[in-house]
Amino acid sequence: MPDERHLWSGRFTNAPDEEVFKFQASFRFDRRLFDDDVEGSVAWAEALEAAGVLSTDESRAICSALVAIRERGRADPTFISGADEDIHAFVERQLIERLGDIGRRLHTGRSRNEQVSLDLRLYLRRRLIHLQEALTGLIAALAGRAASAGRTLMPAYTHLRRAQPVLVAHVLLAHAAAFQRDWTRFDLARDEADAMPLGSGAVAGTSYAIDTDALAARLGFSRVVTNSIDAASDRDFVSSTLHAAALTMVHISRLAEDLILFTSEEFGYFELADTVATGSSLMPQKKNPDPLELVRGKSGRVVGHLVGWLMTMKGLPSGYNKDLQEDKEALFDTEESVLGSVRATSAVVGSIELRSDRTESVATGMLLATDVADYLVNRGVPFRRAHEIVGGIVRDLLAEGRDFASLLPEEWQRYDSRFTDDMGKFITGPASVEARRTPQSTNPDAVALALAAVEKWVADRRSDGI
Ligand code: ARG
Repeated sequence: MPDERHLWSGRFTNAPDEEVFKFQASFRFDRRLFDDDVEGSVAWAEALEAAGVLSTDESRAICSALVAIRERGRADPTFISGADEDIHAFVERQLIERLGDIGRRLHTGRSRNEQVSLDLRLYLRRRLIHLQEALTGLIAALAGRAASAGRTLMPAYTHLRRAQPVLVAHVLLAHAAAFQRDWTRFDLARDEADAMPLGSGAVAGTSYAIDTDALAARLGFSRVVTNSIDAASDRDFVSSTLHAAALTMVHISRLAEDLILFTSEEFGYFELADTVATGSSLMPQKKNPDPLELVRGKSGRVVGHLVGWLMTMKGLPSGYNKDLQEDKEALFDTEESVLGSVRATSAVVGSIELRSDRTESVATGMLLATDVADYLVNRGVPFRRAHEIVGGIVRDLLAEGRDFASLLPEEWQRYDSRFTDDMGKFITGPASVEARRTPQSTNPDAVALALAAVEKWVADRRSDGI
């Protein structure tokens, strides 16, 4: 009787070194693929039966034992443990313990190289939806805040210097736009994962009459991979997922940074809810935005997973290499980090309180300089000339500690005869946003349409179940 401790023991005279075996084993983390491994194995048993490799009785016995193993694992997650090398070895060991030689037939014509690819594709198919759902929740929270902000104004920034008045809703929807792109990127990663690799064997394909199209359909895949060698080493669907995740974290860290600034004493545009802030152990007055800082921090870790993983893939010889096992820890940690970050940020966004008195009071003054220049342009002054005239006004006003609103009609006239008596009517925050005309602008009607579009987008995703 050969030693069956490992899936591959037959060829070896000596047992593996304990420490080295542990080092290369993946069961500690790939136990997450338990459900997927069982699902793939049930379908493989049926495919072997259809190919005439297993009898109906054998395939039935294997399938019902696999289902029993799955039930046991679902009921008691501690069952999914042991000294096995990986999840594939664990499931097969369980099967053989239950069925003996019949269980030993399941791996006919199949390799762990394609099995792990299948499991990961199945895993992403069921898990990416949750990331997308969480993103939809964040977008809905931003849209909700945008709706309640109405036409309230705040400054928009360039170079972190006050630039022009915009609707608060416009700022919130700017972040939503980035998250909508991230949502689509996860959709594309899901589409990349949607190719069925079984039938690839270890690298050259399988010699049994497996109907791969039927197997793909049975497992809910839209297509079969096109090349067995590529299939053994293709993890582009992992790279794309990590890339979508990294960009999501880049975007979420930027939203976090905006909120950290805007809820600070210096800005005071929003008030952070007590429920999503933390205090200081020493300074009794502090209300810190810890969750937002942590989200900002975690973005580094997720981007690191993408970069580390691409380095792992770079220069790999074709076919399967054990390096590929590194995909899982990067992926699982990324998934947890993104999900936690998106949910925490949604909670923060959903509970911030707008301090419109403060935002409105600073969305004026020198921020209207472009509007003064536009006023002259509309009366025939070349823009570059208008820019210079208004620059001169700004310089004088700054020196005197005044702003446009304090200019008397004769003072306007002194700068340019085309300025009229009713400048105060044109040069206001609300007039400034009204003057914007393009659909992507902060014009209140454009923002209302943009908000309606985002709300519809959210409703459509939710009715689709994502
Ligand atoms: N644990 C392995 C992985 O994650 C499974 C595939 C092992 N294949 C092999 N030939 N050693 O990639």
